Amino acid sequence: MKIAFYSYKSYDKEWFNRCNEDFGYEFKYFRVQLDEETVDYSKGCDAVCVFVNDKLNREIIEKLAANGIKLIALRCAGFNNVDLEAAQEFGIDVRRVPAYSPEAVAEHAVALILTLNRKIHRAYNRVRDGNFSLSRLTGFNLHGKTVGVVGTGKIGMIFANIMKGFGCEILMYDKFPNKKFEKDGMRYVDLTELLQKSDIVSLHTPLLPETSHMMNQYTFGLMKEGAMLINTSRGGLINTQAAIDALKTGQLGYLAIDVYEMEEGLFFHNHSEKIITDDTISRLLAFPNVLITSHQAFFTVEALNQISLVTLTNIKEHQEGVISPNQVKI
Ligand code: NAI
Repeated sequence: MKIAFYSYKSYDKEWFNRCNEDFGYEFKYFRVQLDEETVDYSKGCDAVCVFVNDKLNREIIEKLAANGIKLIALRCAGFNNVDLEAAQEFGIDVRRVPAYSPEAVAEHAVALILTLNRKIHRAYNRVRDGNFSLSRLTGFNLHGKTVGVVGTGKIGMIFANIMKGFGCEILMYDKFPNKKFEKDGMRYVDLTELLQKSDIVSLHTPLLPETSHMMNQYTFGLMKEGAMLINTSRGGLINTQAAIDALKTGQLGYLAIDVYEMEEGLFFHNHSEKIITDDTISRLLAFPNVLITSHQAFFTVEALNQISLVTLTNIKEHQEGVISPNQVKI
């Protein structure tokens, strides 16, 4: 079994090669992402192994099929970048890693809240520069605050329970609420009530046509003035221009994002020697109350180990024709 491995980074190679000692597959590693220009690198392979920003639209899937690709092995949970209808039409199996470490993502969301609230990023730089002043470093207690959790799946619920531990009241919203999650200080409400009452809102839904730009000019207007928004899910959940407008007026008090709707080609790469031409991210970076990490919420030792193990197991199960809950279908 030969696998074209797109968008690889040194850590991917390290973890996959280590794990592959037990599987023995042949990997062709490519630093470039899968797109119109690189799709033919997959010729002679049986599968492609891809990540969040690889392009898997109809045109590319058709070419993959023509190149003999039978499996798209996603080494991530989200599959919004895959045209599933086209994959089905061209007989390509799609498998993903549904949960590699939901704790990693939930804990990163909490890290963003604590950093942004207590201004740790600013304090770190200040103190290193010999400035021990506390001026403008005031934060707020999390204890007693209301936290809105949008999407109560694996990550959302771990996050909700951590925040409950801080003494926060938890409001939850999900298209498919699970009443079992309700307990003292944790209850489901509709999205409007969640936005109106929460001091901190954290997004944990997948990116779907119905969730695309769920945070927009209207929904920012529903939020408590000066509230904090955290997004570790997918960039497209937020209309970034609407977020900038809400930050400018103070309606949005704080924004921390690990994902960005135009992150493709920007995140995961070192652009420090280049001119960044994306004016939207440049504007966001200029706000003192905005914190950005580049899609690193998943990035723990435990998650990397799990990603490589589950991806290789998915490939093996595909080969053996095993039906699996990790298969993604329409
Ligand atoms: P999950 O599938 O366990 O939970 C998603 C929840 O969203 C479910 O409870 C579902 O009912 C709910 N949902 C679906 N459509 C909805 C809608 N229209 N409105 C409200 N709720 C809706 O997924 P999990 O594992 O918790 O992951 C959540 C997201 O986190 C993923 O879709 C992925 O985009 C993102 N993620 C980000 C990572 C990072 O490194 N930043 C790493 C892993 C996942």
